Amino acid sequence: MLPKKIAVIIGSLRKDSLNRLFAHEVMALAPPSLSLEIVEIGGLDLFNEDLEGHGVIAPPAWTRMRERIAPMDGVLFFTPEYNRSVPGVLKNALDVGSRPYGASVWAHKPAAIVSVSPGAAGGFGANHHVRQSMVFLDMPLLQQPEAYIGGAGKLLGEDGRLNNDGTRQFLKRFIDAFAAWVDTNAARAA
Ligand code: FNR
Repeated sequence: MLPKKIAVIIGSLRKDSLNRLFAHEVMALAPPSLSLEIVEIGGLDLFNEDLEGHGVIAPPAWTRMRERIAPMDGVLFFTPEYNRSVPGVLKNALDVGSRPYGASVWAHKPAAIVSVSPGAAGGFGANHHVRQSMVFLDMPLLQQPEAYIGGAGKLLGEDGRLNNDGTRQFLKRFIDAFAAWVDTNAARAA
C-alpha cells in the first residue's frame, strides 16, 4: 500500500523555531505508512475576500498552497502560542485554505495538532484555538494523545535534536496514533 501523504504545517516563521525543530523530530519518528512533507505558509498574502472571485484571480501563493494541500491524505499542525492563541500566520493559512466557499482544501482531512512552547503550559491555548477552527473546517481531529510540549527549549540539545527519551517515546506514540487515525478516516478524506 502506498504511504499516506501528510502535509506538515508549522505556525512559526522564525528560522530557529522550536516548532520546526519538533516537526523534524516527529517526521523522523513517523512509521513508513506516512509520507510527511512540510508545506510552507510564510509567503501567503493576508486573506482578503476582495482578492478573488467576481473576475479577480486569486494570489498565486494562495493557489499554490491549495494545490499542495488538496491531494494530501491528512494534515499535521505544529503551533506556537501567541498571547494564548494561534499565531496569525497559521490562522491566515487556515482561512486561505478554507475558501472559495464550498471548496475548502481542509474538509474531511484527518488532522492532529502539536503545540510547542518554552512555557510550562505547552501552548494549550493555541492548541485548543486550532481545534476550534478544525471543528468548523470539518477535519476529523485526533483526540488522544494530546500533544502539548512545554519547556520545549530544555528538551533539545545544542544541535537542535531531541535529548529526552521520555519525550521521544511520547512523540512516537503520538505519530503512531496519528497514522492509525489517518487510516481510520481515509475513506472520507478521499
Ligand atoms: C509568545 N510566546 C508565548 N508563549 C506561550 O507559551 N504563551 C503565550 O501566550 C505566548 N505569547 C507570545 C506572544 C508573542 C507575540 C511571541 C513572539 C511569543 C513565546 C513563544 O512560545 C516563544 O517565542 C516560542 O519560541 C515561539 O515558537 P517558535 O517560534 O520557537 O516555534
